[in-house]
Amino acid sequence: MFRYSKGFILPVLAATMMTAPMSAENVSVSTPKTSLALDITKGETLKFLYYGDRLNAADVAQLQSAGTFGKDAYPVYGLSAEAQAALSVQHADGNLTLDMSVEGFEQVAEANAKVLKVQLKDRVYPFYVTVCYRAYNDVDIIEMWTEIKNGEKQTVTLKQFDSAYMPIRRGDVWMSHFYGAWANEAQLSEEPLKPGTFVIENRDGVRNAQTSRGEVMFSLDGKAQENSGRVIGAAICYTGNYKLRAVTDESEYHQFFAGIDDYNSEYHLKKNETFVTPVTAFSYSKEGLSGVSRNFHRWGRKYKLANADRERKILLNSWEGVYLNINEKDMAQMMADIKSMGGELFVMDDGWFGEKYPRKTDNSALGDWKVDREKLPNGIEGLLDEAKKQGVKFGIWIEPEMSNTKSELYDKHPDWVIKAPKRELRTGRGGTQVVLDLANPKVQDFVFSVVDDLMTKYPEIDYIKWDANMHISNHGSQYLTADNQSHLYIDYHRGLEKALQRIRAKYPDLTIQDCASGGGRVNWGYLPYFDEFWTSDNTDALQRVYMQWGTSYFFPAIAMAAHISNAPNHQTARTVPLKFRTDVAMCGRLGMEIQPKVLSDVDKDQCRKAIADYKCIRPIVQFGDLYRLQSPFEKKGVASLMYVTEAKDKAVFYWFKTEAFCNQHLPRIPMAGLDPQKRYRVTELNRIDHSPLSFEGKTFSGEYLMQNGLEIPYGHNADWGKANEWASRVLLLEAL
Ligand code: GLA
Repeated sequence: MFRYSKGFILPVLAATMMTAPMSAENVSVSTPKTSLALDITKGETLKFLYYGDRLNAADVAQLQSAGTFGKDAYPVYGLSAEAQAALSVQHADGNLTLDMSVEGFEQVAEANAKVLKVQLKDRVYPFYVTVCYRAYNDVDIIEMWTEIKNGEKQTVTLKQFDSAYMPIRRGDVWMSHFYGAWANEAQLSEEPLKPGTFVIENRDGVRNAQTSRGEVMFSLDGKAQENSGRVIGAAICYTGNYKLRAVTDESEYHQFFAGIDDYNSEYHLKKNETFVTPVTAFSYSKEGLSGVSRNFHRWGRKYKLANADRERKILLNSWEGVYLNINEKDMAQMMADIKSMGGELFVMDDGWFGEKYPRKTDNSALGDWKVDREKLPNGIEGLLDEAKKQGVKFGIWIEPEMSNTKSELYDKHPDWVIKAPKRELRTGRGGTQVVLDLANPKVQDFVFSVVDDLMTKYPEIDYIKWDANMHISNHGSQYLTADNQSHLYIDYHRGLEKALQRIRAKYPDLTIQDCASGGGRVNWGYLPYFDEFWTSDNTDALQRVYMQWGTSYFFPAIAMAAHISNAPNHQTARTVPLKFRTDVAMCGRLGMEIQPKVLSDVDKDQCRKAIADYKCIRPIVQFGDLYRLQSPFEKKGVASLMYVTEAKDKAVFYWFKTEAFCNQHLPRIPMAGLDPQKRYRVTELNRIDHSPLSFEGKTFSGEYLMQNGLEIPYGHNADWGKANEWASRVLLLEAL
């Protein structure tokens, strides 16, 4: 809803555009519980006034009287050259400055949101910026982006071009952000904002979430709490390099900037060309970090994630089971095993392709998406027949943006790879992996055709795992002209998005997993094209407690693939009992990644029961609201979280012991998100204990559970081998 300082509310009609009277100064956009207010005065600098709890018109009108005079809403470089800027350009005549003032604004009503667009123009040059805000009607998310237009006679160079800017009033502001590495993604770091500039930057070129992540939360009332306190969250929704900056200078505000990374990415904006920056989505909540997470999850499920209204299938992936040693016999056996345990889908991972250069190791065949008939004499058809016979769906792995120098594709099209002129190729995985140049439209067509050919030949394929296992090493596009080499990072991702858009337009129902050496592409820029992501190549259940925790800040469980794998674990060599592995995997989109042959009958039976139970809680996990309760990063010896249905009639509570010592004291965990008035019956899932817990089958009020919580025993009362130093619990709560 739009409000003006004069207090009248414009009626909002779907898909209508309204031009507002320019006498209006303070303008706000609102979501159900939040407002953002600007001072939009014609001929003046656009001012950001407020972001927080929803305001009424009278308070919006009074913001200046309350002493808030605002900051530039989209600071540009030039006349205040000493200040931090969101936009910096060089005009054709060499002038490095901008001086933007408000020309006007318009408001567009969409089906589920309203968009406010404020037009700015340089006071001297025909150079325009439209600053855009989309406020959703039903979720507390406001998206920001800009449209930068060159009306000058010649090319203007964009040197810095952020999507969004947000001033945050100083106080005791803490920032939560994520760092990591392969097999250790989404590690949480939380610290107070201190003087200086904190930069989170990604320069991978291909995968933008493996090391740092493009999301942050700011806790305004001191160290972040999960379920209380004011928190602002921000997520840049982009597939490529990004830069987030939190600047604390001498002013009254911390200043947050988010945008495409300008690193070696100067962009030459042609006459009449418009550069649209990616969306940065913001949320504000008074319900702490988890409150902001729930807002992002809801928005993501409603408006971003592909097919988010559909329950995800329980699958077995072949990677950790057989690695590259694909063969028909093992594939058939794995299909039969996952079916026998109640699974619904089998995914054949890397290793199935390559004709002239069969993929025996990881140094060949990427780009040659033809079946290796030695491994699979009956081809994909044979596997699809087998899957049909077994009663499971079939999925397949591809890495369409990549090639090996040992491939027919590279033999034919050496000019399709990213490579610096006059230089030897620097290669990746297997000593031969190279990245295809998606700036090139022919490569975009090829990438589209990888999926299109498979789906045309084998329309029964239900699921594709789309991998990307290399960064851009060699800065050089063999397609772009010499003077536009700095467009490589941006044009790569424009090309990738074009290919993905075509794929989604043609195959909207296909399930596609976003994987990039594990969790290297966990960003909302990807998820409109994907149904889920592979959280990490690390399947060790203990480390997963941490990685899934970090991931859950911005991404919902429905998209977070979590697989039960081998013990000892292939990445950490840690031996974690099946019970704990199962419980951790049941926090996300449950699957398995193991050669089921290694499981004993008892273990298989345990998996079968877990899968059956997961089917009961699947709607709660995949569509419910997340309440994080006790962070593993606080090192209290325990981690705990829960999912609650919107109706608050069902919930699943998880508890994981993260350390084991004799006579230790773990905190009791009060629950959250329940209806205090309702009574909930407690049932333990995945039980291994000889005797039931004291609260099994008993009922408690939501009030009691949220004030006190249940005393969870620190260990299991079970046989040796089942009971050991590990302890975890999954409790189903059902309102009477
Ligand atoms: C990447 C993925 C893995 C697996 C391998 C196959 O590392 O993250 O899950 O698919 O590639 O080569």
